[in-house]
Amino acid sequence: MTTTTQLHIGNAAQMKAIDDASVDLIVTSPPYPMIEMWDDLFAEWVPESKQAMTDGDPDAAFNVMHQALDAVWAECARVLRTGGICCINMGDATRTTGGTFQLYPNHARTVQDVTAHGLHQLPGILWRKSTNKPNKFMGSGMIPPNAYVTLEHEHILIFRKEAKRTVKPERRSDRYESAYFWEERNRWFSDVWTDLRGAAQSLNGHTDLRSRSAAFPMALPLRLINMYSIAGDTVLDPFWGTGTTSLAAAMLRRNSVGYELEPGFAAVFEDAVHTLSERSHRYNAARIKRHRRFLRERDTPCKHTNTFYDFGVITKQETELVLYDVDAVHPVAPGSYEFAYQPHGVQTEAFA
Ligand SMILES: C[S@@+](CC[C@H](N)C(=O)[O-])C[C@H]1O[C@@H](n2cnc3c(N)ncnc32)[C@H](O)[C@@H]1O
Repeated sequence: MTTTTQLHIGNAAQMKAIDDASVDLIVTSPPYPMIEMWDDLFAEWVPESKQAMTDGDPDAAFNVMHQALDAVWAECARVLRTGGICCINMGDATRTTGGTFQLYPNHARTVQDVTAHGLHQLPGILWRKSTNKPNKFMGSGMIPPNAYVTLEHEHILIFRKEAKRTVKPERRSDRYESAYFWEERNRWFSDVWTDLRGAAQSLNGHTDLRSRSAAFPMALPLRLINMYSIAGDTVLDPFWGTGTTSLAAAMLRRNSVGYELEPGFAAVFEDAVHTLSERSHRYNAARIKRHRRFLRERDTPCKHTNTFYDFGVITKQETELVLYDVDAVHPVAPGSYEFAYQPHGVQTEAFA
């Protein structure tokens, strides 16, 4: 199996290059309304947002910024297949305007908008990003009652389009090879994630872009793509940024497609894409190592054995699990690449 990735430079409010019901999974993080770093972007996209702030009406600004994002959610609902999943990483904002400090509940407004397009909300994840900054508490110090709770979490909102997905019999092996380990399931499907730090990605010297990228850590899309798609699927990120979702998709044998307004980020992706062979090898080796450690610490024999690796697994569903390394990366056209794979740590004859 080979996979591809394709970037489109343009506004995701009109994803004309993407067919209806052609996407299996969406993993994305939009610009968060009312966070200052995105004011200029929203001002260009919807000039009414700037006007509302100038008029001292932050609630109106919040509203029009979400109306702009809503055009993208409508497109997401169109391109998602039946049973497809949409994961949106969204943080709330706090801001003082005209002397008034207030919370802007971006996640709640997003749930309202996305479900209005007919998607069903599923249980989501609180991504806790603790900080040890000494100045993290705001307000009146140790004297009540005017201090504020510090926001140290973001939401990963999860939605499904229509009914549960069914997988065609000819894709059975893609599905079972894409299984995750029992102990990964226990960690990944918990409703609070505390083990993912903020973005720790190298932008390879593109420091001018760093402050504008707001990238999420690679571990986030890797986890969500493992959880909600199978090898050979197509993953969309309408707010592509530096393409972290596409890198993760390629590492996991998924196709991907993205939309991004800022053409400069493509260069960051181009640098990163050529490191994928090595990164996927390291990522897979770490998963296998963690599983072996889990087995050692568990100290009880497993009922099942994986077909491709010489280790036990807890459930029958994990017996066909295989990890693949990116073997080769071929540029196809500007913003488009093809990836080839080889099984990680398995004798190729085992696949005969
Ligand atoms: C929070 S960042 C996403 C970062 C990305 N997850 C990463 O890891 O690099 C949001 C991105 O959406 C882009 N963007 C904002 N509005 C957009 C729109 N209407 N269409 C396409 N891209 C947009 C911004 O330029 C920015 O790169």
